[in-house]
Parts: sequence; structure tokens; C-alpha cells
Amino acid sequence: MKFRKIVAAAAGIALSLSLAACSGGGAGTSTSTTSATGGETSAAATEGGRVGVAMPTQTSERWIADGNAVKQQLEDAGFTVDLQYANDDIPTQGQQIDQMITQGANVLIVAAIDGTALATQLETAASQGIKVIAYDRLIRDSKNVDFYVSFDNFKVGVAQGSSLLNGLGILDADGNDTGEKGPFNVELFAGSPDDNNATFFWEGAMSVLQPYIDSGVLVVPSTQTEFDQAAILRWQQETAQKRMEDLLTANYQGDTKLDGVLSPYDGLSRGIITALQNNGYSGTIGDGFPVVTGQDAEIASVKLIQDGVQFSTIFKDTRTLAEQAVTAAKDLLAGNDPEANNTTDYDNGVKVVPSYLLDVVTVTADNITEALVDTGYWTQDQIDAGVA
Ligand code: BGC
Repeated sequence: MKFRKIVAAAAGIALSLSLAACSGGGAGTSTSTTSATGGETSAAATEGGRVGVAMPTQTSERWIADGNAVKQQLEDAGFTVDLQYANDDIPTQGQQIDQMITQGANVLIVAAIDGTALATQLETAASQGIKVIAYDRLIRDSKNVDFYVSFDNFKVGVAQGSSLLNGLGILDADGNDTGEKGPFNVELFAGSPDDNNATFFWEGAMSVLQPYIDSGVLVVPSTQTEFDQAAILRWQQETAQKRMEDLLTANYQGDTKLDGVLSPYDGLSRGIITALQNNGYSGTIGDGFPVVTGQDAEIASVKLIQDGVQFSTIFKDTRTLAEQAVTAAKDLLAGNDPEANNTTDYDNGVKVVPSYLLDVVTVTADNITEALVDTGYWTQDQIDAGVA
């Protein structure tokens, strides 16, 4: 039986994880080995089994860094890797996974574009004994998901909401209420409604913001406080820019001034910042530029944070997530249950998927060096240039 052979082969190889695969593996790692439309199959390793890695898009640095880190670490562990990016196109991702299955994958590591769209592929995978790891984003509506590796997505949202409050001076750096009563005008953005993470981020953020909205310290002039009103399909920067421009036109005439924006992802943050700059907001946060949050520590946003234009981002170390995915893949191939640290929160509509969740770090201008440079994620030169 094919799967048994693979298990034996996997058990036979040395599985030491090279830390070198992590160093310099930040989002700045070269993408030259993976084509823009598809991916590549490595010939470097053939004996440890075959892993299909399906990533959503190359338009965001984090997924490039994730793909590179997962591929490198799997290859170091002796696996053959088929890494594919789907240009945020749902049918393309489905076809890529079909192909991975046809080509004999033993494990699939999938960061879904639409978390509900892969049930058919996963049914086929299960019928062939192929193990499935949901990577960063939960795959929904399928029993054929063996494990989930991610960051603590609710905590990411809490960190984003807290950071907005901190930037406005409502909370101090330790998260204590300063007594500042505002009122502050804010607008709220959420991620893509088909990404399970987006609701976790939103609920985490609203858990800290809602009490201040209720007490009037925060005011949302647009009154758009529902997820569906705030959501940005496929996390598109241009869509966020357009929504921000519309909100400014409709609600910020005359003396009404915007003080802050909850943004769940750096790409959206940059769209929002462009809209603000196009509408007469200038300078830096200290001079009255609105406080804008973010996520992913993308290089262009880290530079904006260093320059005082974006207030914060949430750093998710993709190298560590890749390490968890590789560990889980090895466990599953060896017939073991990967170690989970959460077995309650990620119900995908059919079952609770055992999960391993990692911690995140809030980055502001005050800790860029410690969080991003000292850890080798970005170099200071990359940050100064704003490009990887
Ligand atoms: C990820 C975030 C990312 C977003 C947009 C989410 O699923 O968890 O880190 O910012 O997708 O790519």
C-alpha cells in the first residue's frame, strides 16, 4: 500500500530541521525559484515522500515567505516539494490541488483562498490516504482536514484593536486605560469574508473596541460597525483604498476629522493611507495623521512605521509557522497525531480541527529593531529602502 511505503520511507530519513532554513528566511527571501503563475517541483529530494504546498497569492510578501520557508524546510528534511501559487483565483487553486494529488502527493499543506471551496479535492485526497494540513487559514466544510497550524487569530485581532487604542492614547503601552475620553473618530476595516481568519481578527479587535464605542470614547461617523460592511474581498489594497475614499467623502466634510483606522492587514493599511493622503491628511502620526494598524510586517509598511506614517503592524513569524507545518507533516506521515495546543476553537463546520497556534508580536516604531532586525526577519537596509 502506497501510504505504508511512504510512512516507512519517512521514518527512515533523518529529520533534523535545519535552522539555517529559517535564518534570512524572512519575507525578503528570493522568489526566483517559483514562477509567477505556477510553481515548481524540486528534484533535490526524492526519498522522503512528496508534499504539495498550495499557497494563495504572490501579491503579498508573507505568502512568498511562507512558501519559501515551507519548501526549504521540507527539502532539508528529505521531501520532494511541489509549491504552487494560485493568484488568488479559486478555480486555479482547486486545479493545482487536483494536480498535486494526481502527481502522487502524500501530504497537502494548503493555505486556502476560499476556505469553503476545497471539499471535493479533499474528498479525493482522503480516499487516497493523503493527509491534509490547513496552513494559516482553516479549511471549512470538510471532515478531511487532519491538522491546522496557524497563529492565534483571535489574539491577532485583540492586538490590532489594542494597538489602535494605544495609538490614540486611550491605552498606555502596557494596555492600561489612561482615562483619555476622546471622543475619537475611527473607521473599521475587516479582511476577506471567505477567509476564516478574517472573522477571528474582527471579533478579537471588536472585543476591545466595542466597549469604547459603547461608552462614546470612540465614534464611528460612518456607522459601519458590522463585519459585512467593513470586509474587503480577497484582502485587496485597491478595494480598501476605494472604501476609505468613499467613507471620507461621505462622512468627513467640514470640521469632522478622522483619528484612527482599524486595518487588519498591511496591504489594506497602505491603501487606506494612500486614500488619506489623497484627501489632505499629511505628515506623521504625531502631527495629527490618523493612527492606522496593520498585520504581517510587510517591508513597505515597516518603513511607513519607521517614518511615523503607519502606527503598527502585527508580526507573524512565517519561519516558525513553516516549522510547525513541517513537524505536523512528518508526524502525520509517521502515523502519529501532531501535537496540538488548541482542540476547541477551530470548528470548521464539520469537526473541530486540532490546531497548533503560535503567538504574535505587535510592532510599532519603538520595537522594529528588536522584533524584526534582531530576529533576522528584515535587515535595517531593507527597512530603510522599504523593499525586500
Ligand atoms: C492571514 C494574514 C494575512 C491575510 C491577507 C490571512 O489569512 O492570516 O496574515 O494578512 O490573510 O493575506
